Amino acid sequence: MTVLLIAGSPSEKSRSAALLDGVQQRLHARGAHVERLQIRDLSPQALILADFGNRTILHAVSRVKAAEVVVVATPVYKAAYSGVLKVFLDLLSQNALQGKTVLPLATGGSPHHMLALDYALRPVLQSLGAKHILSGIYATDAQVTLTPEGAYLINDEIGARLDEAVNILITETLRPVVKPAGNFASVPFSQVRCSV
Ligand SMILES: Cc1cc2nc3c(=O)[nH]c(=O)nc-3n(C[C@H](O)[C@H](O)[C@H](O)COP(=O)(O)O)c2cc1C
Repeated sequence: MTVLLIAGSPSEKSRSAALLDGVQQRLHARGAHVERLQIRDLSPQALILADFGNRTILHAVSRVKAAEVVVVATPVYKAAYSGVLKVFLDLLSQNALQGKTVLPLATGGSPHHMLALDYALRPVLQSLGAKHILSGIYATDAQVTLTPEGAYLINDEIGARLDEAVNILITETLRPVVKPAGNFASVPFSQVRCSV
């Protein structure tokens, strides 16, 4: 089972990507198979001109198709999610998220746009057929700070929310597909013995 982390910021050094890093580390620690897709690595021309046949786009779309769980991270831009994420989502088929669990993440300069995940991104994820959209996690820039070494540091409150979200992903979505040890094999009826 694959978890695909989608980074939706146009910036190379990115706070929303730091939230994805936090999810990635936690999922790795729990033994999940995690892959990453940076939309900014795809052909900008293909994204802007909606070139469905472009090689990088076809590959990215196939990775979304193959994933069972998708974690989407975006910065808030103008009270909504990023344009980079939008042009990528526009290239997905109408049911691209069918049967998948999705965890939305966002960072924004202020707390005022924390509902952007719910009023802007969630309806789009829903229209793409997502089976289950977990409660989104929103962090302000003050909660994801830059260290003197140049790395982003997630504060404890957001860290705890990431812990909780990953726990839900593991227990409710990823774990049920792992067969519990000691499962009994089915026995043909002809081999069933009775003691009476
Ligand atoms: C073009 C642009 C528009 C932005 N619009 C908003 C906004 O409407 N509301 C907000 O809270 N922050 C806004 N911000 C701040 C970013 O959302 C914030 O710094 C975010 O953490 C950046 O994430 P990133 O580093 O992953 O790109 C904006 C930033 C830029 C560059």
